Amino acid sequence: MYFQENYSLKNLNSFGINVSAKYFTGFKNTNELVEILATANENKLILGGGSNILFTKNFNGLVLKNEIEGIEIIKEDEKYVYVKAGAGVGWHPFVLYCIENNFAGAENLSLIPGSVGASPMQNIGAYGVELKNIFYELEAFHINDKNLIVFTNKDCEFGYRESVFKNKFKGEFVITSVTFRLNKFPVFNTSYGAIETELQKMGVQSPSIKSISDAVISIRKSKLPDPKIIGNAGSFFKNPTIKNIDFENLKKEYPAIVGYAVGLEETKLAAGWLIEKAGFKGYRLNDAGCHEKQALVLVNYGNATGGEILHVSEKIINAVKLIFNVSLQREVNIM
Ligand code: EPU
Repeated sequence: MYFQENYSLKNLNSFGINVSAKYFTGFKNTNELVEILATANENKLILGGGSNILFTKNFNGLVLKNEIEGIEIIKEDEKYVYVKAGAGVGWHPFVLYCIENNFAGAENLSLIPGSVGASPMQNIGAYGVELKNIFYELEAFHINDKNLIVFTNKDCEFGYRESVFKNKFKGEFVITSVTFRLNKFPVFNTSYGAIETELQKMGVQSPSIKSISDAVISIRKSKLPDPKIIGNAGSFFKNPTIKNIDFENLKKEYPAIVGYAVGLEETKLAAGWLIEKAGFKGYRLNDAGCHEKQALVLVNYGNATGGEILHVSEKIINAVKLIFNVSLQREVNIM
């Protein structure tokens, strides 16, 4: 086992922030992980795709890159196929594997940056589908107890961009593999309006797993910056939920405000709309900015520091609070 010292993390976080780790190493299987954990006493940070993290300073400890590969079918029945993927497998390559094999369920989640192992952490979601809809179980290694534990869908307590791994078990486990339950007979979810419109533009009469994926890819490419070109971590904030009565009051003042009912008593607001209305869409402070096509996404145009991006996020939170009396919560982990 070899630890690199003063290792640059610039290429390991999708914001492209130039910070370093005191020590760095990777692990390709659970045995390697066990070996590393037994030798290293430093503070540890496990990195997957690095696509939901904002580094504001150097990491004074050991950064471990999860490099557990492999995709295998572990069982199947009449309706479903159960596919186990190593936590280090890239998320989009996994989606492509599903599409090539005609396994349905992951297509709406096409082109999300990050890794399979990070996907349950915040229950990734897009275009009407959340990870929890196709999640079967995962295996995670308990860092202190040094044993592998299986988490079912229920055990993960998935919520909107939430799971136990972001909350009560934060920092306690390393996810090593995730098993998905995919449909042999597709049930397409085109409820998200933009998908229907895109399919029509593509001239698709009856959707397939591939055409839905293509539609999602096309929508994402038109709105979201490619992290390889402009550093970003997707949505920086969550869409906030407020009481219906507060929504009605806001609507009187801002008739165009965008919100969707959640249950009977609450409304989820489009944070992108609030941020745009607050005047931040396309805002730029040195190399830190708010994306010009999707205000929910903060960007690094080149040499922004994590502190500068955090500062922009604070300005946005304060402005949205002042104007709408709505509190935005960050979705991205700040380190
Ligand atoms: N909007 C604006 N201005 C903006 C951005 C959005 O007015 O600058 C309004 C538009 O009216 C639009 C509505 O907000 O109709 C919703 O926008 P969009 O469809 O782009 O989705 P979102 O709510 O901004 C969420 C997820 C995305 C996911 C999309 C599609 C969160 C925090 N974000 O964004 O997820 O791709 O829906 O399902 O829930 C991510 O988590 O990193 C992410 C990109």
